[in-house]
Amino acid sequence: KELKLIDRFNRNLNYLRVSITDRCNLRCMYCSPPRSHIPRLSHADILSYEEILHIINIGVELGINKVRITGGEPLARKGIYHFLEQLNKIKGISDISLTTNGVLLKDNIEKIKNAGIKRLNISLDTLNQERFKLITGFDYFKQVWEGIQKAYELGFHPIKINTVAMKGVNDDELADIGKISLSYPFHMRFIEYMPIGDTHLDKERQIMAYEIMELLSGIGELVPVYHDQNDGPAERYKFANARGEIGIIRPLSHHFCSTCNRLRLTASGHLRPCLLSDRQEDIKTPLRNRASDRELVDVFLKAVNFKPMQHHLDQVDSETVKDSMSSIGG
Ligand code: GTP
Ligand code: 5AD
Ligand code: SF4
Repeated sequence: KELKLIDRFNRNLNYLRVSITDRCNLRCMYCSPPRSHIPRLSHADILSYEEILHIINIGVELGINKVRITGGEPLARKGIYHFLEQLNKIKGISDISLTTNGVLLKDNIEKIKNAGIKRLNISLDTLNQERFKLITGFDYFKQVWEGIQKAYELGFHPIKINTVAMKGVNDDELADIGKISLSYPFHMRFIEYMPIGDTHLDKERQIMAYEIMELLSGIGELVPVYHDQNDGPAERYKFANARGEIGIIRPLSHHFCSTCNRLRLTASGHLRPCLLSDRQEDIKTPLRNRASDRELVDVFLKAVNFKPMQHHLDQVDSETVKDSMSSIGG
């Protein structure tokens, strides 16, 4: 029980992000490949829930105590609510959270609550119905917004809203989106676009964090909020008298690499120690070949051991990271 997931740079990995599916019910322009080639894993290629729970259990033995479920769109996978309940029964996990696009939230929010999830991160890149369709390919704005409202009414806290900032797409709205933090206790988070995988959004659409801050400062002064090292990637701010917060996520300026506590499990069954590096370790094959738990522990240790010190800003593009965000889980 002395084994821990400590990497070569003395970072203790206690946070596992689990992508349970590479499929999604939206086609966001910053995330998914052009329609012509949407690679999808076959059913046999993705881990079963039982396999995922087995792997998470081993992670927990090694000190994992935070788990985030992502996708693709996790709520689009059949059986998810039962899976979440099983996950919630694992002793030793103090924090289970979910990242979703919100499309299926409205009708399933009670089930999510009953399964023990408290923290929700929801994507929302626009407040305009037409634009929502343009960005995601589907006309679900109302549905997502109602889902967010319902999550709020049911007491989920914090609710973090993720907005990917895109030049010429939603930059004229960022201030309005930020204003939501005045009336709701949400964390409105603005993310620099990472052009990884095979997306159909030009790199020229990137808006750097300082520009996002400029757009937001039209609303009022952004006052920094104390940021714990284990808080995750967002730099936190608040407008005076706001109920919620503003978060700025700059994956490209890798401010959080030095304290990164994350390890990822992909839908295809690979342990991936860095979002922005293509190196990952297959854990599905040994698991399916009936490896012992001790051998699976070794797969964890091996993956942790090649976690890079940081990613290299200038090398991060679709050439270096071939996997799509939807299969890695963001
Ligand atoms: P918590 O800290 O647990 O609330 O989660 P989070 O803010 O990391 O989660 P979320 O799934 O909402 O991700 C927000 C954004 O941060 C997404 O664009 C992710 O791709 C990005 N992100 C998350 N983890 C990493 C990471 O390890 N490295 C980089 N570069 N970006 C990340
Ligand atoms: N760059 C930055 N953020 C992205 N997300 C998805 N794709 C990208 C990308 N290419 C974000 C979405 C989602 C979160 C998990 O990742 O906002 O909420
Ligand atoms: Fe850590 Fe890699 Fe994420 Fe940087 S990109 S914060 S090194 S996992």
